Amino acid sequence: MRRPASLELHMKPTPIQKLGENLFIKRDDRTGFLLGGNKIRKLEYLLKEAVDKGFKRVMTCGGIQSNHARATAFAARELGLDVALLLRGELTDRRQGNLFLNSLIGADIRTITSEEWVGKEAIMEKWASELGSTYIIPEGGSNALGSWGYVSALEEIQKQGNFDHIFHATGSGGTASGLLAGRAVTGMNCSLHTINVCDDEEYFKKRIFGILDDFERQFDIKVSTENFHIHDGFVGEGYALASDQLYEQIKSFCGDTGILLDPVYTGKAFFGMQEVIKRENLQGKILFLHTGGAFANFANVERYRF
Ligand SMILES: Cc1ncc(COP(=O)(O)O)c(C=O)c1O
Repeated sequence: MRRPASLELHMKPTPIQKLGENLFIKRDDRTGFLLGGNKIRKLEYLLKEAVDKGFKRVMTCGGIQSNHARATAFAARELGLDVALLLRGELTDRRQGNLFLNSLIGADIRTITSEEWVGKEAIMEKWASELGSTYIIPEGGSNALGSWGYVSALEEIQKQGNFDHIFHATGSGGTASGLLAGRAVTGMNCSLHTINVCDDEEYFKKRIFGILDDFERQFDIKVSTENFHIHDGFVGEGYALASDQLYEQIKSFCGDTGILLDPVYTGKAFFGMQEVIKRENLQGKILFLHTGGAFANFANVERYRF
């Protein structure tokens, strides 16, 4: 097995807290403030490569409220790199949440429509060649190299306790591919449960297994996909569209625990997980990975009732 080098960009280990008799939460929302969430773990590997290869700028893409784009922008600026972001959606006069932060930090932002999104890679390639010296990070930092972020997260978890099941939200597949690869590296045999917040099970099977094929080839290690479950059915009306009920659940969970989830990823995954646990009568110790996303709440303040 070949292990790539990484930078040290986030606060670790993130704590694991008890939420119920058999339910625990790993606070990857506390990997940092502006760098917070799951993306910074992948960026430790991706930005290391960008720095080592001497690039002057990084470019990535995502939705208009992308957490990944924000974490990339802040980590890159700390490293002295310029930032270019290709975002799906429209720039509004009132910039909120992650878009506010990406504007504040002076990222070079271009927007595309949902129809143009299928061609995002070609658009980034063309833009990068115009700009020169640009390291392109794929959507969500989700590729073979970025997967190492959640390999090392699983190594961290192994030192913190034994868990029978790990649940998390999936948006671009790199957290899931990282955890699967992490089981191969650590020898842990916990069941992995991913809750997709967009697209469907078929889409994510293809995407996650595709990243793992690259991972196996590049790093010379075999990864098993046994005991891996994609729980489709919690997308609701679509990506980043949440029901009044979900906003209400996030509000009361926040009041009860002091933990802030978000309406795009962790809210759908956490309350989805509760349904799966009940429906499948899951036993043993269960860990929910809180992958961040809090800034999306500030782009949706009007949806909360007080
Ligand atoms: C807060 C949050 N949680 C979970 C995810 C999903 O992670 P991944 O893109 O690795 O599937 C993302 C990004 O897509 C995210 O921003």
